[in-house]
Amino acid sequence: MKSTFDLFYGKSKLIYALPFFGMSIFFMIGATTHQKQSQSIAEPTSKQVPSNTAQQAASTVLITGANRGLGLEMARQFSADGYYVIGTARSPLEAIELKSFGVQVEQLDVTDIESVAALAKRLKGKQIDILINNAGYFGPIPLDQKQQKIDELNLEGVERCFEVNTLGPMRVTQALLPNLYAGKERKIINISTRAGILANSYHGGKGGAQGYGYKQSKAALNMFTRILAGDLKPDNFIVVSLAPGWVKTDMGTQLAEMTPEESILDVKKVIETLTPDHSGGFWFHDGSSLAW
Ligand SMILES: NC(=O)c1ccc[n+]([C@@H]2O[C@H](COP(=O)([O-])OP(=O)(O)OC[C@H]3O[C@@H](n4cnc5c(N)ncnc54)[C@H](OP(=O)(O)O)[C@@H]3O)[C@@H](O)[C@H]2O)c1
Repeated sequence: MKSTFDLFYGKSKLIYALPFFGMSIFFMIGATTHQKQSQSIAEPTSKQVPSNTAQQAASTVLITGANRGLGLEMARQFSADGYYVIGTARSPLEAIELKSFGVQVEQLDVTDIESVAALAKRLKGKQIDILINNAGYFGPIPLDQKQQKIDELNLEGVERCFEVNTLGPMRVTQALLPNLYAGKERKIINISTRAGILANSYHGGKGGAQGYGYKQSKAALNMFTRILAGDLKPDNFIVVSLAPGWVKTDMGTQLAEMTPEESILDVKKVIETLTPDHSGGFWFHDGSSLAW
């Protein structure tokens, strides 16, 4: 019996290409349709922005999920630029490459209340200037496989997305607030994605229409950014969502557009350029403003 896709595309063998088609749509649709706002961070790209200043060199940055992917590259670049880096990993013993950068490695599972509390206890009294909530989870179905439609959706996977991508940053931020108040930069960076932009989520039944858990949990993360930015505004915090682009990591797959090095060069410059005027915003790695 022919499936809907057979009928739509004519040739059943195209079904096998759908996951890759869907995956490309998932991240690339944002590249073509995301609405860049008129506002832009003054010094946008890695090529144009000067390197770190002496003041920033003394700053402490804590990066969650720093044992691989974008978090690992953030740890490498911030460390190489003189920042004091605290990189967290669920399994520090296995974080060999992270340790090779000479950074402080701390155990953290953002879904585990005790793990978060233990981290806060170990770091008590230590100032943190920049918190990067980077740890993320795409879902039980990897990006390069056919995404689940609503009739077969695994709600436990959706719940896990919210636990890691939404509640995780909330737990970590809450627990480390005293450290952030003690810091001089007071920056909270929530690593988000164009996939969480509401306008990008409806693609007429194509693969890009799925990814329920990931997209919903990142949209909720963006709302957390907005609320937190307003909440902490009187205390001069800078709270933003930042989308790194589609990057070659385990999550982004090797089909992605950028290397981690390219993305994080930009991401780091954006973080360094942020001022209180940028707080509450959703920024792309190139320094442009994204619509929610
Ligand atoms: N790559 C892209 O194209 C892309 C695009 C847009 C946004 N992003 C966002 O960028 C961030 C990093 O993504 P990535 O591409 O580097 O992903 P990745 O390669 O899959 O790495 C994910 C990281 O998050 C950690 N993590 C997962 N669950 C965790 C938990 N419960 N507690 C603590 N850490 C946990 C992982 O640790 P383990 O090794 O222990 O699993 C790993 O270090 C994510 O927030 C993602 O949504 C990525």
